[in-house]
Amino acid sequence: MMTTTRRDFLSAALAFGLPHASFAAEAAPELLPIACLHGDERLDAAPLRIEGRLPAGLRGSYFRNGPGLMARGGERYRHWFDGDGFVQALRFDGEGRVSHRGRFVQTAKLKAEAREGRFLVPAFGTAIPPRVPLRNADSMNVANTSVLQQAGRLYALWEGGSAYELDPATLETLGPRAWTPELAGMPFSAHPKQEPDGTSWNFGTSGKQMVVYRISAAGAVVNSAVFEIPPTAMVHDFAVSQRYLVFLLAPLTLDMAALREGRASMVDAMQWHGDAPTRVLIVDKRDLSRRRILEMPATFVFHFGNAWDEGDVIRLDFVKGEALPLINERLQAIMRGERPETHPSTPRFMRIELAGGGRISIEARDESVEFPVVDPRVVAQRYGQVFYPTAIDLGPRWGFNGLMKLDVETGRRERFAFGADTVVEEHVLVPKPGSSREGEGWLLGMGYDTRHRRSFASVFDAQHLADGPLARIWLPYTVPYGFHGRFYAA
Ligand SMILES: [Fe+2]
Repeated sequence: MMTTTRRDFLSAALAFGLPHASFAAEAAPELLPIACLHGDERLDAAPLRIEGRLPAGLRGSYFRNGPGLMARGGERYRHWFDGDGFVQALRFDGEGRVSHRGRFVQTAKLKAEAREGRFLVPAFGTAIPPRVPLRNADSMNVANTSVLQQAGRLYALWEGGSAYELDPATLETLGPRAWTPELAGMPFSAHPKQEPDGTSWNFGTSGKQMVVYRISAAGAVVNSAVFEIPPTAMVHDFAVSQRYLVFLLAPLTLDMAALREGRASMVDAMQWHGDAPTRVLIVDKRDLSRRRILEMPATFVFHFGNAWDEGDVIRLDFVKGEALPLINERLQAIMRGERPETHPSTPRFMRIELAGGGRISIEARDESVEFPVVDPRVVAQRYGQVFYPTAIDLGPRWGFNGLMKLDVETGRRERFAFGADTVVEEHVLVPKPGSSREGEGWLLGMGYDTRHRRSFASVFDAQHLADGPLARIWLPYTVPYGFHGRFYAA
């Protein structure tokens, strides 16, 4: 799983043309590269064609992850989040050259299904009856959502199970990582927050259980806790400030019987309770047993940008998605071959006043965005800028065709649009070597030219987005539209 809003997934499925479950990938119009791989690809290309000029000083590895395999043995996944993880690395040598590599994460699931030539286990959005015993959450682990490099080791992440370790140089799969013997097999979300000193915070949820991890820059778990939370079907991301971890627990329940019996996918087994509150769980980083729960109107969120403490006020931002019934309605409409309307996910800025009863206020904006990103130097600290893919002058058409920088204090924005034929993925902020000011760096991410059916990476000066990309790097093949990535300087 799981990224972008379900609206995005649904529209992606629509764009790709999936009215039914039969496998017709080759015949479908390719408005998004979602089913361009077959499972045995090992992609390598160097040097890549560069349009424009790569900035001097851009040196390191940009790792990305996303669902790569959507069909096997005549069966096709119905949900973008389902596909097996395909990890990519773009290497920048600092002298104007770039190479690309892509490998499937060789999870236990992928290897077993490749041997059998068919899907064997349920997926997040596709109800496949289990054809082998499900031993634990890792039986379904597709390792497809994001990456983390911690203490020189690289991991492919999926929120329902273990992190899968990869060789950072070759992208070959080394296997699932047990952080400690006691934490083996525990869920490790795809949205760890890596602080400027190298400390990573992460969490995992399974029903009423939540696990929290604090991992040192050296890669050791220095603190962890397992505790009960108000039950919710899915927690994708969280926010971290100097002093707190903040979770928004949506009013989502899960029909476990339907799921277990293979009658419903996880998506279809989820129920939204719009009259119930979203619970705001606040955990003290210094003492994980100090926890507090506040309430706010029902809200669904996939992604947070960042958070910081301003005295006794936690300030944070997130992207608000739709309520689940709307998402499910649209899913069914798409399966009938209809074209539902789009409903954008939009930025929110939230203040939690901790004094007294805990007052929450939220400021809304209306740009269509997802995949918020901040400068890695300000994670869990005061910050002033958030960057997003965004839709610019697309009308009711789905997708992100541009990028936006938003000033947190003034609300001022700067944008760039590629045009209606390009879809833009998450772009990360890469600090310029030697710089110290927030946002001083490059915005780096991938995209797809739907007219020419070409995948590319683009590099912007993050403080001059409107000037357009400094460089575009064209791949000689199509790569799948992905979720999240991180850049690590060499
Ligand atoms: Fe995500």
